[in-house]
Amino acid sequence: MPEAITYEQLKVEADRVHEAFGQDFKRFKRFVIDRQAQDSFAILLEQVRSEGYSLAEAQADLRELANLETKYMAKKSEWSKAKKKIGQITDNEKRGWAGQHLLFLDLSMRDDLVYAKLTLDQIVEALRTESESLDVTIPGRRRRSGHLHPITLMRQRIEDIFVSLGYAVEDDREIETDFYNFDALNIPEGHPARDPQDTFYTTDGFALRSQTSTVQIHAMQRRGAPVRMIAPGRVFRRDTPDPTHNPMFYQVEGLCVDRGITMAHLKGTLAEFVHRLFGPDTKTRFRPSYFPFTEPSAEVDYSCFNCGGVGCRICKWCGWIELGGSGMVHPNVLRAANVDPEQFTGFAFGLGIDRTCARIYELDDIRLLFENDVRFLEQFR
Ligand code: DAH
Repeated sequence: MPEAITYEQLKVEADRVHEAFGQDFKRFKRFVIDRQAQDSFAILLEQVRSEGYSLAEAQADLRELANLETKYMAKKSEWSKAKKKIGQITDNEKRGWAGQHLLFLDLSMRDDLVYAKLTLDQIVEALRTESESLDVTIPGRRRRSGHLHPITLMRQRIEDIFVSLGYAVEDDREIETDFYNFDALNIPEGHPARDPQDTFYTTDGFALRSQTSTVQIHAMQRRGAPVRMIAPGRVFRRDTPDPTHNPMFYQVEGLCVDRGITMAHLKGTLAEFVHRLFGPDTKTRFRPSYFPFTEPSAEVDYSCFNCGGVGCRICKWCGWIELGGSGMVHPNVLRAANVDPEQFTGFAFGLGIDRTCARIYELDDIRLLFENDVRFLEQFR
């Protein structure tokens, strides 16, 4: 037989639960709106929006509300237990009062829960629609895509040609010792050829390389002979910038060392190179010259890709454009890299990448290539 309880005791207990519910529910009260009144939902929505109430917050509140419902309405909740005690009131009349009172509280709590949930559901729906909607009338934003620098494009074209001729591409250091930049290239201290290649010195004994010819030595030391390689890269010189000079510029070095290599191989290789770069009608011209690291040495010209040799603005009306220096590798250079000049001979060449680039694109000033002005660079997509 369950314990007896009086109406007064049960009322106190029920009121206490109801009061606790009121506390817990306080923050949801604003969602219990007068659904008869026009615009009541619209007004509330406007208000939460202006507060910056987010979709995530609304969803979290919905979950919190579900927790509240469990807390008060679940079978084992304090409230359900209180309701069961109505039957324990022995006085018939007072049992009726208790029934009425608790039913009233029960309905009011359930109403709150139901209406708040209804409103919150709608708010979630509205905020979600908003976040997912897109205005198809807004003009599109074009995605800006990058592209390679004109010097890189030029370098890659050159690399492709030599790789297809069986050359390896060497990448090497930009900071060098005097040995690699000068001595090993047959330019001893005090040699006048050091003068035009004055460069930038870093710590004692080190300098920024003034020519990619340094890689000839590194490559032969690393690979021995025979060797066939090109070495594109940056070089540095103490030059005052002007339309045709920059203290930093790009060269590509070429080296081919094997048994029985002759000047004919050099001429054939460079002729093939300009054919592939500028077209099969391009002619080459070799002029005797002097470089300490080659003997004999030659400057190489090619017939103007624009006028074919007749003379135009691009070739400065002479029909020929300078490609670079070349020659047969000096025995001293082979020796410096531990290659036996009695067994091996070779040719070498050095071309200016940015110079060639400036010609092809008809740039009046090579410094444009280094200023990184996107308005300029964007033209080379
Ligand atoms: N290193 C030379 C320079 O910077 C260019 C050069 C000339 C490289 C002749 C060579 C060569 O390999 O054979 O002016």
